[in-house]
Amino acid sequence: MRRTNSNDLSGKTAIVTGGARGLGEGIAWALAENGARVMITDVLDAEGEALAAAMGGAGHKAVFRHHDVRDAAAWQEIVAATLAEFGGLDILVNNAGINFVETIESATEEQFRNIVEVNLIGPFIGMQAVIPHMKDAGGGSIVNLSSNSTRKVVVSTTVYSATKAALANLTKTSAAWLGQYGIRVNSVHPGAHDTEMVRKGFEQVTDPAIREAILNAIPLGRLGRPEETGALVAFLASDAASYISGGEYFIDGANSNI
Ligand SMILES: NC(=O)c1ccc[n+]([C@@H]2O[C@H](COP(=O)([O-])OP(=O)(O)OC[C@H]3O[C@@H](n4cnc5c(N)ncnc54)[C@H](O)[C@@H]3O)[C@@H](O)[C@H]2O)c1
Repeated sequence: MRRTNSNDLSGKTAIVTGGARGLGEGIAWALAENGARVMITDVLDAEGEALAAAMGGAGHKAVFRHHDVRDAAAWQEIVAATLAEFGGLDILVNNAGINFVETIESATEEQFRNIVEVNLIGPFIGMQAVIPHMKDAGGGSIVNLSSNSTRKVVVSTTVYSATKAALANLTKTSAAWLGQYGIRVNSVHPGAHDTEMVRKGFEQVTDPAIREAILNAIPLGRLGRPEETGALVAFLASDAASYISGGEYFIDGANSNI
């Protein structure tokens, strides 16, 4: 029997979008600490460059490239740059995302179109960009960052939750098609984690009682940490998860179970 009990990613190469900060940063570190070479992409150049330098300083192989996930031509350049830099492409983490605190009454059509471009069309173009290379390589692992709002009703993130539910569905149908090539596709559904996105969202919740209620609703009693989601993504990206595809993985301190 072949035993694969570790998240070993030695010899594998990953692209992490929106990797300059927050969950993407936690994911980039987790992949690298398990042996992967990491192409970090983002629109935040200073943060991305600093992260790649810090990871290099820690002995990891990491490169940063400016990349707006809405841009199909830029995706082709990122894939080409990854292959040129590292000689392979095994893992794609579609992490880049944006959020708006708006209800069905207050959200604008422009906001909705914009968030769909980043949270849904970006991962779609990204998957299409890596598929030919993963097919040639005989397989790969794609992880799409959805949200635990797909199984919670959160009135303040109406349009955001809609994009994340659609992304989870896109993940499952993609997994069903791409299985024939050995490409696995899974979605990760974080609850509130301590990142800029959540801090900004909290700032807009002016009533302290509502803020407290949000935290009190998390049975584990705290926000998640980026490295915790990083660990889950590293597992899904690794051969330890070789029969896991089309799944939804919640990481939210049991928040969406109650
Ligand atoms: N933090 C949470 O609690 C939480 C919960 C559920 C889901 N998520 C999801 O996890 C992912 C990461 O969230 P986060 O909390 O780290 O957010 P964040 O705002 O801290 O980081 C998101 C990153 O994506 C980048 N980005 C935004 N638009 C981009 C674009 N067009 N092209 C490339 N990069 C772009 C940003 O520059 C930023 O570095 C998102 O998809 C988010 O929806 C986060």
